[in-house]
Amino acid sequence: MIDKSTIQRIVDTADIYEVISGFVNLKKRGANYVGCCPFHNEKTGSFTVSPAKGFYKCFGCGKAGNAVNFIMEHEQMSYIEAIKHLAARYGITVEDKELTEEQKREKGDRESMLIITQFAQEYFVEQLLHTDNGISIGLGYLKHRGLDSDTIEKFGLGYSPDASDAFTKVAFEHGFKEDFLVRTGLTGKSERGLYDRFRGRVIFPIRDIGGKVIAFGGRVMKNDVKAAKYVNSPESEIYHKGNTLYGIYFAKKSIVNSDRCYLVEGYLDVISFHVKGIENTVASSGTSLTIEQIRLIRRLTPNITVIYDGDSAGIKASLRGIDLILEEGLNVKVVPLPPEDDPDTFARKSSTEELKTYIAEHEVDFIKFKTEILLQGAADDPLERAKLITNIVQSISLIPDNITRSVYIQEVVATLKVEEAVLHTEVATLRTKKKLTPVERSFIGNAPPKTEEAQLSPSSSLTPSSLTATTVSYTSGRTDTCQTEEMAIARSLLLFGIYKLDDEITVGEYIIRELQEDELEMLNPHINTILKEFQLYATDEDFSPQKFFVSHSDPVISSITASILSEPYELSKIWTANKNTYPREEELLPELLPKIVNNYKVKRVEMM
Ligand code: CTP
Ligand code: MN
Repeated sequence: MIDKSTIQRIVDTADIYEVISGFVNLKKRGANYVGCCPFHNEKTGSFTVSPAKGFYKCFGCGKAGNAVNFIMEHEQMSYIEAIKHLAARYGITVEDKELTEEQKREKGDRESMLIITQFAQEYFVEQLLHTDNGISIGLGYLKHRGLDSDTIEKFGLGYSPDASDAFTKVAFEHGFKEDFLVRTGLTGKSERGLYDRFRGRVIFPIRDIGGKVIAFGGRVMKNDVKAAKYVNSPESEIYHKGNTLYGIYFAKKSIVNSDRCYLVEGYLDVISFHVKGIENTVASSGTSLTIEQIRLIRRLTPNITVIYDGDSAGIKASLRGIDLILEEGLNVKVVPLPPEDDPDTFARKSSTEELKTYIAEHEVDFIKFKTEILLQGAADDPLERAKLITNIVQSISLIPDNITRSVYIQEVVATLKVEEAVLHTEVATLRTKKKLTPVERSFIGNAPPKTEEAQLSPSSSLTPSSLTATTVSYTSGRTDTCQTEEMAIARSLLLFGIYKLDDEITVGEYIIRELQEDELEMLNPHINTILKEFQLYATDEDFSPQKFFVSHSDPVISSITASILSEPYELSKIWTANKNTYPREEELLPELLPKIVNNYKVKRVEMM
C-alpha cells in the first residue's frame, strides 16, 4: 500500500502538460493545449489539456481525466503502477511494501543485468577509443562508413576486441557474477568454458525508450568473412527484440515534434538519417515488424513512413509492415528507394536538402505503393489488375476507422476505376468474416455460390467477372421464416430505397407504407432494424442506404447488408423467370416490387 498523503503529493506534483506532452504533440490554444488524441484515431486535434484544471478531455472520443488517468490509459498501467511511474519521474520516494519476495528478487535481477549492460557499454567505448586495435580497426571502420566523432559518441558505438574472453575476464575483475553475465548474453557458456559473445566487432548499443542500454548488436568489419554480418544480444529479462526499436530513445522527441516516424531496417540506416538531421527515425532491426513495435511508435505519433531497402527483400518487408501498421489504426506511407540503395547508402550520398526533397517527392500512400509495385508491366492485364484490387481491398479492410477506410476506397475508385459500391461491399464482407462471432456467422452463412459465373471466382477475391458481383452467399435458412422474401424486400430497400417507384412515391416509402398498412414487422430482427433506421434517415440529404448500412456500427447489420448486396444472381430468381437474361433490376421494379411485397404478405398470413 502507498499511503494517501504520498499519493496526494504525487498527484499535486505531476504537471499534466509535462506528462502528456511526452506522448502527444500539444499546441497552445488560449489557456489550454490541443493535440491529436492518443486514444482514438484522428487527424484534427480534439484532445484538450487544461493545465489550470489539471485534466485532459478528448471531445472526439470522450476520454477524460488527470495525469494519473492518462498514464493508466496510455501506458496500460494499473493505478498503483501509474502512481509509481509518476513518483519515479518526479523523484518522490514511494515505500514499496507490496512487492513479494519473488518480485523483489526479479526486480533486483533486472537491475543487476542493467548494471552489467551499462558496464559493458562503457567497456566497448573504451576499447574503441583508447586501444590500438580499437582505434585502427574499429574506429577506422566506422570512419570509413562516414561516421564522425560526434555521431559515434552520441550513439555510444564501441568495439569488442577479437579475443575469446577479454570482456568476461574484465567483468569478473569488477566483481560481476557469472549468472548475470550469462543471462544478459554478453557471456556465453560451453563445455570449454566461458566466452565473449561479441568478438572483433563494432558495437551498436541498443537502448530502451528511456535510454537504458539493454542489448547490443555487433557488426563484423570485413564483408567477405563467413561469420554472420551481425551478432545480437539474445532475448533476456531486459531485452525483448520484438518490443524494441533501435534509435527510439534518440528519436522520440523529434517524432513527437514532427508528428511522424520514419521506419528503416538497420542500425546504420538510423544513424545515417540522424547524421543528416532527420532524427525521427527508428529501425525494426532486421526482424519483421511487430505489433509491439508499432504500438511503441503509436504512443508518439499516428504517422509512420516506411523506408526500407530498395531491393525486392526490402519491398516484401514493406508490404508486410504496411498491413500490420494499418491494422493498428496508424497512417502509413512508403518511400521507395532505388533498387541499389538502402536508407544508409542513400542518405550518405545525399545532402540533407536532397534527402528531404526526395522523401517529400517520393512519399506515397500504400495504395499507390502497391499499385506501382504489383502492376509493374502488367497494367493492362485484367487478371493482374483484379489481383491487385483484391490485395488492396484486403489492406483497406484491416483499417479500423470507418472514415479512413472510405477515403482509401475513394482513392481506389479514382485510380483504378472500380465501382465504389463493389469496394464497400467487399471491404465490409472481409471485415465481417474477421469479426463475427460464430453465432453471427451462422446467421450470415457461407453457402457456396450457385451460379456458374460465381463459381468461377473464389469467394472474397475480385476477379474480372466478379468485379460487378462478389460471391458471398446468403443462406436462406428455414423456409417457414420467410427469410428469402424478407431478404428480397431488404435488397430493394438497400439498392433502390431512395429511387422513385413512380411519380409519387419512393421504393422505400412504398415498402414501409405497405408493411405498416398490415401492421407487419420483419421477422428477422436485423432486417427490421434496417427498415426502421431507413425510415429514420431516408430524408437526410445525401443519404445512401448502401453506404450507410455497409458501414453500420453493428457488425451483423453491416454484414447482412454486404451479403445482400453481393448476392445478385441468387435473388434475381425472384425477379425474373427467365434466367438467361438479366434485365436491369430497377427497370423491373415498378412491376415486381408489389409482387414481392404481396408474396411476403401472403406467406405471413399462411404462417399465422
Ligand atoms: N541484422 C541482424 N543480423 C543479420 C543481418 C541483419 O540482426 N545477420 C539486422 C541488423 O539490425 C541490421 C538490419 O538487420 O542493421 C538490416 O540488415 P542489413 O540491411 O543486412 O544490414 P545494414 O543495416 O544495411 O548493415 P550494413 O549497411 O552494415 O550492411
Ligand atoms: Mn546498409
